[in-house]
Amino acid sequence: MSKPKVFCTHPLFETPRKLLEEHFEVEYWNRPERPPRAEVLKRVADTDALICLLTEKVNEELLAAAPKLRIAANVAVGFDNIDVPACTRRKVVASNTPGVLDETTADFAWTLLMAVARRLLEGDRLVRSGQWTGWNLDQLCGADIWGKTIGFLGFGRIGRAVARRASGFRMRVIYHDAVRAPAEVEKELNATFLERDAVLAQADFVSLHVPLLPDTRHLMSAAQFAKMKRTAFLINTSRGPVVDEAALVAALDAGRIAGAALDVYENEPQVHPGLVGRSNVALAPHIASASVETRTKMATIAAENVIAVFTGRRPPTALNPEVLEAK
Ligand code: DGY
Repeated sequence: MSKPKVFCTHPLFETPRKLLEEHFEVEYWNRPERPPRAEVLKRVADTDALICLLTEKVNEELLAAAPKLRIAANVAVGFDNIDVPACTRRKVVASNTPGVLDETTADFAWTLLMAVARRLLEGDRLVRSGQWTGWNLDQLCGADIWGKTIGFLGFGRIGRAVARRASGFRMRVIYHDAVRAPAEVEKELNATFLERDAVLAQADFVSLHVPLLPDTRHLMSAAQFAKMKRTAFLINTSRGPVVDEAALVAALDAGRIAGAALDVYENEPQVHPGLVGRSNVALAPHIASASVETRTKMATIAAENVIAVFTGRRPPTALNPEVLEAK
């Protein structure tokens, strides 16, 4: 009997490849650039399972082009690229990769925070340029991190992992979330729940950790920047459209805030030109979860979800498990 077919829009890593190849006939997109949409639509026509990245939209158009599809496994925790209700209507399981990337992403939020506050990238450029003339008293003086206030908008697994690291810097932790964290979490992290505007007004560093939803699109816009301290920094490792980039550029132009460090952008891979030339902005190419260990785990979970669907087991991280229960 022929094996079911899986199309992976990336070559993945060795561990998940081996797992998949035991069970399936696997086709990979092997080129360095992301696959053009037409290519994805062509390749899903005859596939039973899809493993995709957040750069691929799994929507009505794709589902209509993939009549045999039983699962779309996203190699990311965020799933704003997947129309989950549309998958459910077509009885296609959708899955993501929660849990395995929290600590790695939290490490990177701190990498960004420290880089922008302590002007690391400016210093790196100065040293490499050959223009550095030696130690000087007022050279590249940044902002202290230790002892300051870090404020979170969104306080789920990743926000909490970032907060856990704040105690080493003896920082005050404040947060706002649609759902208040349990008392034991607040106690462990020494975190104070405040209204969103109070977080914006009191934080020296505002770190974003919300999913992209209709309600969180442009959560940070002109009105919110106006509430922040002029000395505060914005850190975004969540999703680009959570920040109104034009409003951020205007706030930076006006000196409304001190700087920003971003891993994600409104229209990736394009970056607002008003951000690119600024020295008080640190820019990363959406790599917060990019450690070899974590990206391997993410791809492995995607593979495990696919294998589970075809071996009659419950996919570990299905977003719409009701699809299987209904069968
Ligand atoms: C995710 O998983 O949603 C990230 O943005 C990529 O790690």
